[in-house]
Amino acid sequence: MGGTIGPVICSTFAREGAAVAVAHVAPDRASATAARCATRGARAIGIGVDVSLAGDVAKALDEVTAQLGPVDVLVNAHGISPIVSSCKPTRTSGSAPSRSHGGTMLTCRAVGNQMVSAGSAARS
Ligand SMILES: NC(=O)c1ccc[n+]([C@@H]2O[C@H](COP(=O)([O-])OP(=O)(O)OC[C@H]3O[C@@H](n4cnc5c(N)ncnc54)[C@H](O)[C@@H]3O)[C@@H](O)[C@H]2O)c1
Repeated sequence: MGGTIGPVICSTFAREGAAVAVAHVAPDRASATAARCATRGARAIGIGVDVSLAGDVAKALDEVTAQLGPVDVLVNAHGISPIVSSCKPTRTSGSAPSRSHGGTMLTCRAVGNQMVSAGSAARS
């Protein structure tokens, strides 16, 4: 998360002792936010990901899990434009990153499946 709200949420989780994976379409912005989280003593990584691409989301989740372990909390703050149709959950590679609901659906599905597989849904 390298936007307006996302970095504040990341910093707050870091301050509270969470390990934080910062994902943003621009890898340098993800890394910059992760570096700020690390100054608060948190384990933090920055990952470049276009959340409107299912392949990007799957790859990012694999990387996060490998480096920090399974995800306990997912925050979507990539922005949703009211003028973009929510009926198009995915897009093809090569077009501009989407700010539609599609990215939220893809990340929720990927992380949700991981949580169900790990049984963490039963603990909440
Ligand atoms: N800022 C506010 O006051 C406010 C208030 C209420 C709700 N919201 C909502 O919260 C969300 C975040 O708001 P914000 O102000 O931080 O927005 P923002 O535009 O500042 O940040 C969103 C970030 O997401 C990135 N992004 C866009 N598409 C992406 C993609 N496909 N993959 C990865 N990254 C992508 C953008 O580059 C941007 O840096 C939005 O849905 C907004 O509508 C914001």
